[in-house]
Amino acid sequence: MQKRILTGDRPTGPLHLGHYVGSLQNRVKLQDEYDTYVLIADVQALTDNFEHPEMLAGNVLQVALDYLAVGLNPEKVKFVVQSMVPELAELTIYFMNLVTVATLERNPTVKEEIKQRNFVKGVPVGFWSYPISQAADITIFKAELVPVGEDQLPMIEQAREIVRRFNRLYGKVLIEPRPMLGAMARLPGTDGGAKMSKSLGNCIYLGDPPEAVRKRVMSMFTDPTRIHPTDPGHVEGNPVFTYHEVFNPNREEVEELKERYRKGTVGDVEVKQRLYDALNAFLTPIRERRAEYQNRSKQVYEIIAEGTRKGRALAQATMGEVREAMKIAYKFA
Ligand code: TRP
Repeated sequence: MQKRILTGDRPTGPLHLGHYVGSLQNRVKLQDEYDTYVLIADVQALTDNFEHPEMLAGNVLQVALDYLAVGLNPEKVKFVVQSMVPELAELTIYFMNLVTVATLERNPTVKEEIKQRNFVKGVPVGFWSYPISQAADITIFKAELVPVGEDQLPMIEQAREIVRRFNRLYGKVLIEPRPMLGAMARLPGTDGGAKMSKSLGNCIYLGDPPEAVRKRVMSMFTDPTRIHPTDPGHVEGNPVFTYHEVFNPNREEVEELKERYRKGTVGDVEVKQRLYDALNAFLTPIRERRAEYQNRSKQVYEIIAEGTRKGRALAQATMGEVREAMKIAYKFA
């Protein structure tokens, strides 16, 4: 039997290059080798968007379009809508007994997100405890491997702890998952910030039209210490070169640009122009496939429905084992 992958995204908007580098690329690469489930995590998206539930439905489709556009094969990969698998909520409740308040409070990613979110009425319990629900996401599908960006490592660690406790207490039912990081741990935003983030407006989306890509690239942050194109510049930590490394397949060109940049014989404009060309070559087939699927959204919804059906069947099977192990599989029912 094939080993399984589970990973997912919150449907709060279309996906961007950061998602691609962090996780999508690995999913595409591994889809033939692993039985792959991808969760469109609308329940998790609600934990900080509960006041705007209307934004989710449209973005479920947008995220599915991105999956298909980058080359996830719907014959192999199951796209699963989280809210349509209520067994996830059930497992989350049981897992809550296995996690302490102190552990949740230490989760560095959640801490960081709470700082950014500015919850006016205090931190909702749903948001604060979403790592528990994410552990249910991963384990209900018995995934061994979770392709994710670096910021998700604390979630995988939390899931591993829960699995160890569960299996020790109730018997070995669940699988301890391993994270798998992308080609780059973290793609910086176009503003040079730590990561691409919708709210910071520093993203290049997979479906962006060429003009939008050009505008973002031409306004990218570069080496802040360099004033004239004839000054020797820094390549390390310069997001334009980081992107070249990841998205420009012409290694010779990248090496030459780096060398000239260090010597002060190439300007930012040319380096960006070449990056735009490379990015556009990368994004064009993705954009085209995305548009094709967008015209056939009925078919995309069928793909999502089918994936969700398969995902739910698997989740129900795991829950049967979980209830059995927890001695709540009552026979009088
Ligand atoms: N927390 C992930 C993110 O913000 C999304 C997610 C939800 C996820 N459930 C998951 C990722 C399970 C991996 C596995 O991107």
